[in-house]
Amino acid sequence: MTKRALLFSYFLVLFLPLSAQTISISTDHTQLVLQVNSQKRLCQTYLGERLSEQTDLSQLEMPQAGLSSSCIRGLEVYPVMGTEDYYEPTFEIHHADGNPTSVLKYVKHSQQGNETSIVLRDEVYPVDVTLYYKVFEREDIIQQWAEIRHEEKGKVYLGRYASSMLYFEAPNYYLTEFASDWAKEMQMLDQELKFGKKVVDSRLGTRANLMAQPFFEVGLGGPVRENEGTVLMGTLGWTGNFRFTFEVDNQHILRVVSGINHDASTYLLKKSDTFRTADFFFTLSQNGLGEGSRRFQRWMMNHQLHKAKDDRMTLLNNWENTYFDFNEEKLVALFSEAKDLGVDLFLLDDGWFGNKYPRKDDHAGLGDWQVTQDKLPQGIPYLVKKAKENGVNFGIWIEPEMVNPKSELAEKHPDWLIQLPSRDTYYFRNQMVLDLCNPKVQDFVFSVVDDLMQENPEIKFMKWDCNSPITNIYSPYLKENQGNLYVDYVRGLYKVLDRVQAKYPDLYMMMCSGGGGRSDVTGLRYFTEFWCSDNTDPIERLFIQWGYSHFMPAKAMCAHVTEWNRRASIKFRVDVAFQGKLGFDIGLKGLSNDDRQYCREAIKEYKRLKEVVWSPNLYRLVSPYEGQHCVVQRVNDSKDKSIVFAYDIHPRYGESLLNTRLQGLDASAKYKVKEICLMPGKQSWLPCNNKVYTGDYLMKVGIKVTSTNDLVSHIIEVMKE
Ligand code: GLA
Repeated sequence: MTKRALLFSYFLVLFLPLSAQTISISTDHTQLVLQVNSQKRLCQTYLGERLSEQTDLSQLEMPQAGLSSSCIRGLEVYPVMGTEDYYEPTFEIHHADGNPTSVLKYVKHSQQGNETSIVLRDEVYPVDVTLYYKVFEREDIIQQWAEIRHEEKGKVYLGRYASSMLYFEAPNYYLTEFASDWAKEMQMLDQELKFGKKVVDSRLGTRANLMAQPFFEVGLGGPVRENEGTVLMGTLGWTGNFRFTFEVDNQHILRVVSGINHDASTYLLKKSDTFRTADFFFTLSQNGLGEGSRRFQRWMMNHQLHKAKDDRMTLLNNWENTYFDFNEEKLVALFSEAKDLGVDLFLLDDGWFGNKYPRKDDHAGLGDWQVTQDKLPQGIPYLVKKAKENGVNFGIWIEPEMVNPKSELAEKHPDWLIQLPSRDTYYFRNQMVLDLCNPKVQDFVFSVVDDLMQENPEIKFMKWDCNSPITNIYSPYLKENQGNLYVDYVRGLYKVLDRVQAKYPDLYMMMCSGGGGRSDVTGLRYFTEFWCSDNTDPIERLFIQWGYSHFMPAKAMCAHVTEWNRRASIKFRVDVAFQGKLGFDIGLKGLSNDDRQYCREAIKEYKRLKEVVWSPNLYRLVSPYEGQHCVVQRVNDSKDKSIVFAYDIHPRYGESLLNTRLQGLDASAKYKVKEICLMPGKQSWLPCNNKVYTGDYLMKVGIKVTSTNDLVSHIIEVMKE
């Protein structure tokens, strides 16, 4: 065979569909097979571990015909409301003539590189739905979305527009959801899914994840476990309302529908416009949650997180130290504290803006992004300069989507505010949301960043907050198309963030929403990190960080040392924050010399080891949900460096302590185990300290890293000899 012919046959195998009617989509370990039946309906015939023999695909069976032989019931990839399927549909369209149904039939598909697209069409109405699948082979993540388009004259409304429907068949199904509230983010709750429906959703618009986070896990055939079992892990990449529906049908098949929440969002879609749904991302691990988390974290680091390959800055924030009560003198003193501590950046929080209505507390000023003259007479440029003189970078807090009614902005542009006409307004934290559906408002929000950057090109970091959900849902801009509000708001936000990113590619930004009220993976295409929670009590943080670690990389998880829970030592508080993107929000003057010294040394160690701390190779060894200890481990890709973080919370009296078996090491290599980050003058009392073990021993026998003491922590370095 000639070289060309060889190359051509390689292409045939890789990129050509198996047959026109069978579409196989696979990553290194997972395979999804879709087939077209005799009625041109697209069905899922396989989703599971990747098959070794691709010739086996011809053995897959099409789903049984339903009651009527002309249709199928069950396993349709994008079922439509009003047709023969009895369960939750993915798609609902109201045609211009009032007809509320569509039947979507396969037209064609193409597979190029890592992307597959499949065109479905209604044969009666001019409506196309194109389904997209993008695979990240090595990370074993599949991305799904759909594009909807019509050519009808008159008004066409979309009632539902999910991104994905997946079907599973297993003896039983166990869901883990991530319930939330202010200061209680990512609380993991398990339940068995039985016949019927369970919905996890949000209808809060901006602070969208306040009550529920856009992540889920389903154990297929048993409750989810860390290192064993088949588990589906999914998330919606959408900085707004989401909805996951888990439905077990009459044949005990689990259907998982994921997408933007359609509640209060019946969308008017103009002729020839394309409606792109949100992106749904999933992985199917055959080895439990640990493997799924490592996949998600690696995928975030390789493909999703903004500036993932760049460094991150440790920082000192002034929020909990000063709240609104600061002036130039106080801030300049804090810059030198930041320098003394050894962090990279000082972050000025809320309270620096507003003149007619100065931002003295959270009742006024939001929207008026001019520096408060009598509080900071020399403006932001002076602060940037002074920070620089002290050897630290400068960052600043903004909340540009929000407005206090007591502000010049609200007085000047009442038509820019989301609020119900002729009704009382409900205020969340005394504020309202600007109408980002309106391009003029988008310009304004962009200008908040742009003006600050124009005046202060040396600003390195912004904390972009968002404290109010959208409640009084009425957009003066959209007029009669109010159903578009929640969706167009997010699109407006993305337009602004696209502009920010294009103009200021070097700017680091923290996504914050009264803690972790905004925490989705598409938001992190724009933001370099996110604030996990206002709750920085280290014990609570062990749970919150444990939860987020199922999907999010450590590099993106801002973790600050504060005064929350002073029963815990500074060491314990620092050691918990060390697991994420380390920062401080604490008055250093109140700390003892030893405590301050500990912080300085810990920051040095953090900087030395951050590549390991941020590695996606996370092993959750002891769960805080299962007792009074928590142990997690990170390993770098070459397996020559690892860190173990061990915490004792409130162990029971006389509790017997088990060895903790490490994971992810090179069994044949030798490793030196050394406790680091010790309080000044203290020695390690861990029996494993300074000993050398084989990786095999560490993984099979393990070491003692927990104790029966309250609130004790250890950071242990495991280095290949
Ligand atoms: C939110 C954030 C806090 C702080 C305040 C300022 O609540 O989560 O970290 O920035 O706003 O008002």
